[in-house]
Amino acid sequence: MSPPVTDLSDQQPRLTGKALSAGYETRPVLKGVDIAIAQGKLTVLLGPNGSGKSTLLKTLARTIKPSAGRVYLDGKDIHHSNTRGVAKRLGILPQGPIAPEGLTVKQLVGMGRFPHQTLWRQDAKQDAEAIREAMAYTNVTEFADRNVDALSGGQRQRCWIAMVLAQKTDLILLDEPTTFLDLKVQVDLLELLSRLAHEHGRTLLLVLHDLNLAAAYADHLVMMCDGRITTSGPPSEIFTAANLKRVFDLEARVLHDPESGSPVCVPRKRPASGLAPIQS
Ligand SMILES: Nc1ncnc2c1ncn2[C@@H]1O[C@H](COP(=O)(O)OP(=O)(O)OP(=O)(O)O)[C@@H](O)[C@H]1O
Ligand SMILES: [Mg+2]
Repeated sequence: MSPPVTDLSDQQPRLTGKALSAGYETRPVLKGVDIAIAQGKLTVLLGPNGSGKSTLLKTLARTIKPSAGRVYLDGKDIHHSNTRGVAKRLGILPQGPIAPEGLTVKQLVGMGRFPHQTLWRQDAKQDAEAIREAMAYTNVTEFADRNVDALSGGQRQRCWIAMVLAQKTDLILLDEPTTFLDLKVQVDLLELLSRLAHEHGRTLLLVLHDLNLAAAYADHLVMMCDGRITTSGPPSEIFTAANLKRVFDLEARVLHDPESGSPVCVPRKRPASGLAPIQS
């Protein structure tokens, strides 16, 4: 059983997973996960490689059907909701997305508008404005007419984020959005996402590997290990050396930034750290 999840908001959580078990054909991954994603907050999911973070995100976004348990979006079972209706409220950036060949940046970002378009109804002005705004937020406007395959890793990652932002959903799930980004751009992105949550009431769930950025920006942290939620709560409460050891098997000291008060982890050097010895 997962420990109870603290809900930070005084409202109903937007997205809830209850007793979720899910995985792949012969590989069960999630083992009875309970999670509640609070409205207007930035929640960050942390955990070691292979612990089930991407599987949980995909299950919450209904890309994977759970073998047990339920996902509720605004109180309604997401697997009984219509696809377009879900896509208008929930946008997801999966880990390592692949763009169709030959697409320009503007076309990729424009794919974020698909849920809003039908054969009969396309609001070209609204779509163009959403695309323009998303490209400006992520600083990719200058690449608008270039091919996505001809960009650097970080430039391409920003285009994918723009695509999800152009979808203009209240709920945004991003799996490792800071991959390939230089530190300054990572900070810019987290500032943007934090403003979307705190000033615009959007609800964000991110997977991050940078523990210190997670501690600095998350309202709520969820730590996963081996398909289960080990602990969750505000960084000031759960970002501790004991939890980092328990979840990541990481020996680290946790200090506090004198300016912001955010916890910061400093890994201890471990000369014989479980890696195979170097033979030659
Ligand atoms: N398509 C798949 N088919 C079979 N097994 C998979 C598949 N995708 C992931 N897995 C396995 O499921 C487990 C959880 O994977 P998942 O991708 O959820 O981990 P993660 O926490 O996101 O890891 P990372 O930090 O490396 O992205 C791993 O053991 C992985 O090998
Ligand atoms: Mg992953």
